[in-house]
Amino acid sequence: MELQTVADHVGDLPYMTLKKAERLRTILRKYGCSQLLELGFFHGVSSMYMAAMLDEMGGGTLTTIDKVIAKDKSPNIEELANELGLAGYVQPIFEERTYLWRLMKFIEEGRKFDFCYLDGGHNWSDTGFAFYLVDQLLVDGGLILFDDFNWTAEGKPWAAKMPIEEQKTSPVERTWELLVGNHPRYKRLWVKGGWALARKKRKLPLLPIRY
Ligand SMILES: C[S@@+](CC[C@H](N)C(=O)[O-])C[C@H]1O[C@@H](n2cnc3c(N)ncnc32)[C@H](O)[C@@H]1O
Repeated sequence: MELQTVADHVGDLPYMTLKKAERLRTILRKYGCSQLLELGFFHGVSSMYMAAMLDEMGGGTLTTIDKVIAKDKSPNIEELANELGLAGYVQPIFEERTYLWRLMKFIEEGRKFDFCYLDGGHNWSDTGFAFYLVDQLLVDGGLILFDDFNWTAEGKPWAAKMPIEEQKTSPVERTWELLVGNHPRYKRLWVKGGWALARKKRKLPLLPIRY
């Protein structure tokens, strides 16, 4: 399905734009990703774009997680997927509290993905811990794409009681710098237009020790 078809259908629903979807398609095509994981779908706009990309590329699955409150969106992800005929590509999961819990289940089940779009829970604990959990789920060569690289909670009414330093600090940028940057298995590819993309390196074979 063409991305334009999704754009026409979702209109001005937040969040992902057609322009960003085109950038994302370039990434998925370049690295041949087809087993996709998304953290945070809201109405499911980005999910529909990714499902359309899978359709265009000849197959694959998007597993996407949000909170149960996302069911109350109008339209919600299931409605959008049915209206567009893309439901076969999308597995939406509605968690009671947090995607972190479902990621634990996925690790227990041995699930594997070749791409993760992290677009929800932009606080230090949800973003930082999600990175380590997603690492367990990514195949060698898999990608993690962070949205809202420079986003901070500053100015948001719900953040008023947070320490000022925490309000002013971007949790995604800190995760990128301190956790992804210091992780021996990750190569940071680029930061551009609010996105940051990293790739999990292949494991090097252990060389025999000669005495
Ligand atoms: C910016 S919206 C996602 C937008 C969507 N990816 C798009 O581009 O159309 C962020 C979503 O993340 C969800 N979210 C935030 N923290 C979460 C958590 N800990 N567990 C599950 N979902 C979470 C919110 O409920 C919200 O729907």
